[in-house]
Amino acid sequence: MTRLVLGIESTAHTFGVGACTYDGDIVYNRSSTYITTVGGIHPREAARHHADVAPGLIHSALEDLKGYEIDAVSVALGPGLGPCLRVGAVSARALAIRLNVPLIAVNHALAHIEIGVKHTATRDPVSVYISGGNTAVVIFSNGRYAVAGETLDISLGNMLDVFARDLGFGYPGTPHVLELAAKGKNLLDLPMAVKGQDVSFSGLLTSAERLLKSGADPADLAYSVVETSFAMVTEVTERVLVSSGKKEVSLTGGVARASRLVQMLETMCRERGVGFSVVPPELSGDNGAMIAYVGQLYASRRYSVEIPKSFVRTRWRLEEAPVVWK
Ligand code: FE2
Repeated sequence: MTRLVLGIESTAHTFGVGACTYDGDIVYNRSSTYITTVGGIHPREAARHHADVAPGLIHSALEDLKGYEIDAVSVALGPGLGPCLRVGAVSARALAIRLNVPLIAVNHALAHIEIGVKHTATRDPVSVYISGGNTAVVIFSNGRYAVAGETLDISLGNMLDVFARDLGFGYPGTPHVLELAAKGKNLLDLPMAVKGQDVSFSGLLTSAERLLKSGADPADLAYSVVETSFAMVTEVTERVLVSSGKKEVSLTGGVARASRLVQMLETMCRERGVGFSVVPPELSGDNGAMIAYVGQLYASRRYSVEIPKSFVRTRWRLEEAPVVWK
């Protein structure tokens, strides 16, 4: 029987279950995402959603994977929202005990980056990790993933979600803003805050909110917010390419689905003669498969966590996550 590692994701709005073989093949990837029609994400409501869907998703996975031997359970223990993380942690611990297999703690950001590296066929890229919870430009250096540039305040995805709420959309709002932006024609003047290799989105959001209140056209405004913020990310990515000397860029995370961001990064990379790839859509947002993929990397090195010590870590920094397979 083919051996595999199960992965559970629950750090924010999505509860996901995935499975990956020791060859790195993803054989299972199912999830359920908490959505609202109006307003943002409430951690306790999202956790309730996860607790409701977890038994069904896990049961289906065990049924569908009967032809395989599950020999470890991995779980994203952080960073993320405490109440959401605890649902995944409790499920994974129970499952590891039930199956009598090791439990593996996976850093969520590391999983986005590693699945990006694997599925973009890059070897040593600058990873651009853009999602609802994170905006970071990451390189591998001295045995660790290091954040070379990041947001100094809110993440890009979070900024777009908040702006979507201002426009009257529910959660997740980023797709609505992107759709509206495609209808905009006039580029309005918004602050572009790039500081060294870091970015800041709060000033841009405040300016956009002020313009919205003063009657600016919502489509023009959405277009301007998207253009300005994506240009900022492209700018810092270019700066990190220059300072690190790396020759490839891998785009990962939920906002990797944004075609305009892909286009801007692609153009910059082409002009610099640097390789560029994007993680496939089914692996860009939060998912259990990426947790299983990293779980498998740890499990193959017999790296696991004792269940009584498998605490959730809401602020688990990427640099603190061990990379034992490189
Ligand atoms: Fe994520």
